[in-house]
Amino acid sequence: MAKLKWGMIGGGEGSQIGPAHRLGAQADGLFEFAAGALDHRADLGRDYAQRLGIAADRAYGDWQEMLAGEKNRADRVDLVTVATPNSTHFEITKAFLEAGFNVLCEKPMTMTVEEGEEIVRVAEASGKICAVNYCYSAYPMVRQARAMVGAGEIGKVRLVVTNFSHGHHGDATDAENPRVRWRYDPKMAGVSGQFADCGIHALHMASFICRDEVRTLSADFASTISSRELEDDAMLNFRMEGGTVGRLWTSSVAIGRQHGFDIQVFGETGGLRWASEQPNQLIYTPVGGRTQIIEKGEGGLHEDAQRLSRVSIAHPEGFPLAVANIYCDLADAIRGEVREGLPNASDGVRSMAAVHTAVASAKDGGVWMDARPPMFR
Ligand code: NAI
Repeated sequence: MAKLKWGMIGGGEGSQIGPAHRLGAQADGLFEFAAGALDHRADLGRDYAQRLGIAADRAYGDWQEMLAGEKNRADRVDLVTVATPNSTHFEITKAFLEAGFNVLCEKPMTMTVEEGEEIVRVAEASGKICAVNYCYSAYPMVRQARAMVGAGEIGKVRLVVTNFSHGHHGDATDAENPRVRWRYDPKMAGVSGQFADCGIHALHMASFICRDEVRTLSADFASTISSRELEDDAMLNFRMEGGTVGRLWTSSVAIGRQHGFDIQVFGETGGLRWASEQPNQLIYTPVGGRTQIIEKGEGGLHEDAQRLSRVSIAHPEGFPLAVANIYCDLADAIRGEVREGLPNASDGVRSMAAVHTAVASAKDGGVWMDARPPMFR
């Protein structure tokens, strides 16, 4: 089967997420890295793209040049990844969807709910795929957890508890470092700091595993380092459409926690626990029974978890392969095979609605509010 052609915007040399996309897209030989506008500095972006093997005429200086250059080519890219800073996602994603490209957009998909709804509409009208990179949902044992919930193996879900709390911005003497500071500056980051950055991964994960959507929430935000305008710690209570009770803690000042993303799902007949720092194990306890460790790659896993386990049991798989799983599902979807777990623009706009609702709730003393985007009420 011929490789699909892939292009990326952002993700330049030294960026945080660029390498994971390059490894992920190319891990299975499904995509050829054919085009890129990789840096906000045109010359550096062109130079880096060529060092990565992209032909000179497809090593673009900016995304507008890439759109103009790609849209009339017979061998135009089949998929464009948007891995630029948050405030640019909307205009780039919209422009490429309108020109008939499939897009994988980094999270958060947009800055506002209105922009998010616009992307959902544009994606629908274009008939193209708009995926959002909630890549943790593509770990095999997260897919196993989702499948177990779907198969009723823990009964009706009563409670979901999730954390995405690390300590990497907990040093007050480093708070003015420009690489840290912008995340808590509304002019750069938007209405929310830590919740929009990490909390939405946890909230998406709760919906993904529970197979349910958030309906209402109540939030408490804190800026524990007083010079910060936006929150560096947040606690949310939420309720899902099906009645599941949700709790979410996200923090960037939890010194001692490293990646700090974990989730527990408690049903009527069992409980599940998964943590991103031990991603190959899913902990399962049936009611009245012993706790078991379900290992990635073992026999008897649900089909989706088996399909996305790449190397044999007990060999570690990590973050770039989870991103690769997103690209596998995208390649299937581009070729017409439906992959129901692939996070999409609807997930993206639900996150934006949750962010804006959490900000409003926190400002109003934690009052409960409808967290759904207007288009899904
Ligand atoms: P970064 O600041 O490390 O890198 C951004 C890159 O984009 C740089 O190479 C920069 O030159 C380039 N860039 C900026 N504006 C551009 C433009 N207009 N056109 C072309 N290139 C441009 O940022 P980082 O941490 O890599 O984040 C990028 C995005 O990825 C953010 O939206 C972030 O939220 C998301 N992200 C997602 C993660 C996940 O787990 N899914 C993890 C880390 C980041």
